[in-house]
Amino acid sequence: MANEQQGGPKTAGSKVEPAKGKLGVMVVGLGAVATTFIAGVEAVRRGIAKPIGSLTQMGTIRLGKRTDNKSPLIKNFVPLADLNDLVFTGWDIFEDNVYESAAHAKVLDKDLVEQLKPYLETIKPMPAVFDQYYVKRLHGTHVKKGKNKRDLADQVRADIQAFRKTVDRVVMIWCGSTEIFLEPTAVHQSIEAFEKGLEANDIGIAPSQIYAYAALSEGVPFANGAPNLTVDLPVMIELSKKNAAPICGKDFKTGQTFMKTVLAPAFKARLLGVSGWYSTNILGNRDGEVLDDPESFKTKEESKLGSLEYIFQPELYPDLYANIFHKVRINYYPPRGDNKEGWDNIDIFGWLGYPMQIKVDFLCRDSILAAPIALDLVLFLDLAKRSQELRSIGIQEWLSFYLKSPQTREGLYPEHDLFIQSMKLKNTLRHIMGSDLITHLGLEYYD
Ligand SMILES: NC(=O)c1ccc[n+]([C@@H]2O[C@H](COP(=O)([O-])OP(=O)(O)OC[C@H]3O[C@@H](n4cnc5c(N)ncnc54)[C@H](O)[C@@H]3O)[C@@H](O)[C@H]2O)c1
Repeated sequence: MANEQQGGPKTAGSKVEPAKGKLGVMVVGLGAVATTFIAGVEAVRRGIAKPIGSLTQMGTIRLGKRTDNKSPLIKNFVPLADLNDLVFTGWDIFEDNVYESAAHAKVLDKDLVEQLKPYLETIKPMPAVFDQYYVKRLHGTHVKKGKNKRDLADQVRADIQAFRKTVDRVVMIWCGSTEIFLEPTAVHQSIEAFEKGLEANDIGIAPSQIYAYAALSEGVPFANGAPNLTVDLPVMIELSKKNAAPICGKDFKTGQTFMKTVLAPAFKARLLGVSGWYSTNILGNRDGEVLDDPESFKTKEESKLGSLEYIFQPELYPDLYANIFHKVRINYYPPRGDNKEGWDNIDIFGWLGYPMQIKVDFLCRDSILAAPIALDLVLFLDLAKRSQELRSIGIQEWLSFYLKSPQTREGLYPEHDLFIQSMKLKNTLRHIMGSDLITHLGLEYYD
């Protein structure tokens, strides 16, 4: 095994199957993020760029004591699919192949996209499950027809079954647009109710749920890069456990929320109070256009607002965090394209209540930040599927690290602090490989 070659720990306790053969990656929505992800993987495979931002490709993991000096690469410690073994396919409501879509998205340099053209143009989207009711700003033409939602789900299942014949394992990831804000209803409470709802074209069942239902019914792990109500539903948790198809939270944690979940834990650790946090963004890609619709924005807003409340725990620290004014704005501004600018004004207060301010101006590239997250989620969900311990537990809380809205078992509050999430992720890897967990206590060095 790879970890033995790297001198890693003994893995006698490890019950993770090796990553043999091809991993099929089914991407829902071949837009800016998806094409940056796929083109990026191909560029890395060809040795013309580095997978910067990807923990699975560049991250290391410390094993044993600090004095042991043992920190293998994560990909040499746990058996992950090799990038050369990834095979991509996907669905979109437009017929553009991945080359055309990447060129349209204008995230990557023209030169790079041209260099990768022969490969990218081989990936052509299958017709999508789509209904404009759920994404108001899009008008798709490359769309499946069916007599009801059940029929559409069966068509997606048929797509999965056909693709599965060409690869060894499959993972699905939603990189599609943000759907309108939906809340769980009776139809989402069990597999039976959901299946009846599919037959009856229940309005509470959005396209993303149809893909998720199809994936989980086929035993395929599912990641959700958008804030839609998709797998955070009892029916999906039930399917995930029943069919050993791991799921995790939603909405890639890339720009502003990434910063929030770094800064907020720092204020809390130092007991600095916060009276206001105003966040605003300008972006001009298609995602920005979709989010310009108030119903899609509401979905995003809920996801973005969640983190601070959980990190600050105002019920434990009423003097510091009970009265935070938290506002999030997203403004569609075409000139910027995918290069988003996110501003944060943070009003904090210190010793004796004296006020201070912090300004963050993050000039980021949305899809450049999201692509490595998509890659890691795909590889780690495939790992979870091959882990005897993880495959049937449903929600993979250890993947919260990547997501604005982590998913947890009912009654458990989510962990948003990026550093706790990072520790949880790495300890999960140590755990499934039968290696000692690292607590950072460190008293043994002073015996
Ligand atoms: N880039 C980031 O930093 C980031 C962070 C968090 C979340 N997200 C989310 O990721 C998603 C993708 O972002 P993007 O910038 O690539 O957007 P995009 O608009 O470029 O791509 C979305 C693609 O999904 C397609 N699509 C929409 N509905 C579909 C359906 N039902 N079936 C198949 N395809 C469908 C669209 O046609 C489009 O090609 C968005 O929901 C966005 O909110 C992005």
